[in-house]
Amino acid sequence: MCGIFAYLNYYVPQTQKDILDILIKGLLRLEYRGYDSAGLAIDEGYNENKKNEGHIHVFRNRGKVKALAEKLYKQECLDFNKEFEIHFGIAHTRWATHGIPNEVNSHPHRSDKNNEFLVVHNGIITNYKDIRTFLEGKNYVFESETDTEVIPKLLKYLYDNRENEDIGFSTLVKRVIQQLEGAFALVFKSRHFPSDAVATRRGSPLLIGIHSKNKLFTDQIPILYQACNNNGHSSKGLQIGHEDLKCSGREQAVEFFFASDASAIIEHTNQVLYLEDDDIAAVVDGCLSIHRAKRSMTELTSRTIHTLEMEMQQIMKGNFKAFMQKEIFEQPESIVNTLRGRVDFTNGTVMLGGLRDHIKEIKRCRRLLLIGCGTSYHAAVATRQALEELTELPVMVELASDFLDRSTPVFRDDVCFFISQSGETADSLMALRYCKDHGALTVGITNTVGSSISRETDCGIHINAGPEIGVASTKAYTSQFVSLIMFGLMMSEDRISMQKRREEIIDGLRSLPNLIKKVLSLDEKIQHLAQELFQQKSLLIMGRGHHYATCLEGALKIKEITYMHSEGILAGELKHGPLALIDKMMPSILIVMRDSCYTKCQNAMQQVAARQGRPIVLCAEKDEESMKFAYRSIEIPQTVDCLQGILTVIPLQLLSFHLAVLRGYDVDFPRNLAKSVTVE
Ligand code: G6P
Repeated sequence: MCGIFAYLNYYVPQTQKDILDILIKGLLRLEYRGYDSAGLAIDEGYNENKKNEGHIHVFRNRGKVKALAEKLYKQECLDFNKEFEIHFGIAHTRWATHGIPNEVNSHPHRSDKNNEFLVVHNGIITNYKDIRTFLEGKNYVFESETDTEVIPKLLKYLYDNRENEDIGFSTLVKRVIQQLEGAFALVFKSRHFPSDAVATRRGSPLLIGIHSKNKLFTDQIPILYQACNNNGHSSKGLQIGHEDLKCSGREQAVEFFFASDASAIIEHTNQVLYLEDDDIAAVVDGCLSIHRAKRSMTELTSRTIHTLEMEMQQIMKGNFKAFMQKEIFEQPESIVNTLRGRVDFTNGTVMLGGLRDHIKEIKRCRRLLLIGCGTSYHAAVATRQALEELTELPVMVELASDFLDRSTPVFRDDVCFFISQSGETADSLMALRYCKDHGALTVGITNTVGSSISRETDCGIHINAGPEIGVASTKAYTSQFVSLIMFGLMMSEDRISMQKRREEIIDGLRSLPNLIKKVLSLDEKIQHLAQELFQQKSLLIMGRGHHYATCLEGALKIKEITYMHSEGILAGELKHGPLALIDKMMPSILIVMRDSCYTKCQNAMQQVAARQGRPIVLCAEKDEESMKFAYRSIEIPQTVDCLQGILTVIPLQLLSFHLAVLRGYDVDFPRNLAKSVTVE
C-alpha cells in the first residue's frame, strides 16, 4: 500500500529532467502498490553563483502517476536543463487511508508553507489525533485530513525548539519517531539540510539501493551500525561512504535509491540494504550511516548489503496487455521454479532446505495453523485436506484478522504457517508476532526475500514465483499451493502406508507444468465465455472438497478486477440458502471433477438445472455425463485430486481477466485495492 521512491545523486551530475524521469519511473514501478494520487519534491536548485537557494518545489496530483508526469513536464517554473551535481528528490504514490484522494491529501506532506521539512509515508500513524491536537495547541495549522501531516509538523516543532544549534537531521527524525505509534516507512527531505536524506521504518518495508561507478568503492563499503548517542549527536565511525576511503570530489560519486520495494531499484543497481524496524538511515555529504531509534543489548552490529536476484525482464510486461495476464501465463514456469531443487522425481523425495533443521520439531507438534489474508488464505484452504491426510495432524486455517480478533488460543507445541506473497501484510505480520509471543514455532511461506515475514519467522519456504506485480494474485497462489503440498510430502516421507499416495502426488507434480499449458490453451474459449457474461451483475461459483478453495479464489478474482458481485459457494451448503438465488437469470459456474465429491457435485448441478439455472461446468475431459446438464462446459485435464485445484483455478483467473477487459477496467489497477496491505 502506497509506494515510496527517492533518489539522491552525489557528484553524479543530472539535469532536472533526468532527475524527474528517474523519480517518475520509480513511481511507475511502484504504482501497483497505490494509485489514487501521486506527488514529489525536488530542489529548485542553484543560482548563478552555484549557491543552493534552498527552495523546494512540491508537485502533487490526484490520479495516477501519468497524470502527475503530465503536470510536471508542463511546469514553466522548472528549468529542465539545469544541472545538479548533488540533489535529493522524494516521491510517492498513494493508496488513501485517511482522507480522500485529492491533491492536498497527497504526499509529500510539509511542515509549513516554506517546505522546511517534507516527508513521504507508507503505513498508518495510529496516535496522530493526539499529536495533531498537541501541535494545533502550539498554533500549527493543518491543511490535510491525513495522519501523515503530523510528522513534518512535529519535526519542525522539534527543530524550532531545539536546545542544541547543530542538532543533526537524523537525531530530529529519531525524536519524531519516538513519538509515533503505528506502522511507517518514511523518507525525509529538508531545506535546512540540503542534499541530505533521512529514512526510517517500523512495520512497513523500506530498502536502499546503492550505486557507485567506482567498483572498488562499492566492494569496500563497510556496513556499520551504531546507536545515536543521547546528547543529540550521532557518533561517527559506522558509515558507508567516501569518508571511509578518504577520496574526494568526483571520485566520491554515489547514488542512493530509497524504495518500498525492490522492483523500483533493480534497473539502477542490484546492491541493496534492507532497513530493519527502528533503523534510521541518514545520507550526509554522500555518506550513508545507520542509527537506531531504540537501543537494545541483543542487537546485531551490522547490516548487510544484499545482491538482488531479480531480472529486469521479470518486472516488464512484454507483449501482454497487463501484468496479471503475463503472470497467469507464466504459471508453467513459476511452478517449475517452485519445485526446482526440492523434489527429486527419480527417488520420490522432497527436501525443503528452509525447513530441514526444524522438520523433527514440526513432526512432534500438536496441530498446524495456516494463517493468511485474501488469496494467501485461499492457498491454505486449498491444501488443508491434503495436509490433514499427509501429516495426520489437525490443520486449522485462519484469516489473520479474524484470528487476532478472537485472540485465538495458541500453544507452544503448535506450528503456525504465515502465507503471504508480499511477506508484509500487516494482519499476517501481527498474527505472526502474536504466535511468537505464545511460544509457537513459526514458518513463513512468502514470495519476497528479505520481507518482514520471511525475516521474523523461525524457518520457511520461499515460493520462488518471481515478482508478482498484478494486484490480483495469480502465480503466487499456485506456487503457495505447491509449496504447501511439498511440505505435506516432506512430513510423510517415513510413513510406509503413504508411499503409494506420495508417489501419485509426486508424479502429479512432475506433469503439472504441462497440464497448466494445456489449460492455458483454453484461453480463447474462455474469452468467448466472458463475452457472454460480461454484462451480468452477478456470478456464482460452486464446488466442494478440493475445489471449495477454487470457488473462493475464483470469486475473489472476479470481485477484485471486474467489480461484479461474485460468491464462492460450498456446494454442500447450496440447499441451506444459496439455492434461493438460482433462477434463469443468475449465471453460475460449477466445478465437477472426478474425485470423491463427483456424485455430490453432479447432484448440485442437477439442483441448479432444475431451478432453470444454466450451469457453466468445469469438468474432466470427455465427462459427457456432466456436460449433459451444462449450458456451457470447459474441459480440464485430469490430475491427482489434491493438485486438481491448480488446474481448475486457472480458467477462473483467465475469465476474470477477460471480464475486466470487456467491462473496460484497468486490470492491474483495480479501484480501492492495493497489492500489499501494510496497515491493519
Ligand atoms: C491484498 C491483495 C490481495 C492479497 C492479500 C494478501 O489484499 O490485494 O491480492 O491476496 O493482500 O497479500 P499477501 O501479500 O499477504 O499474500
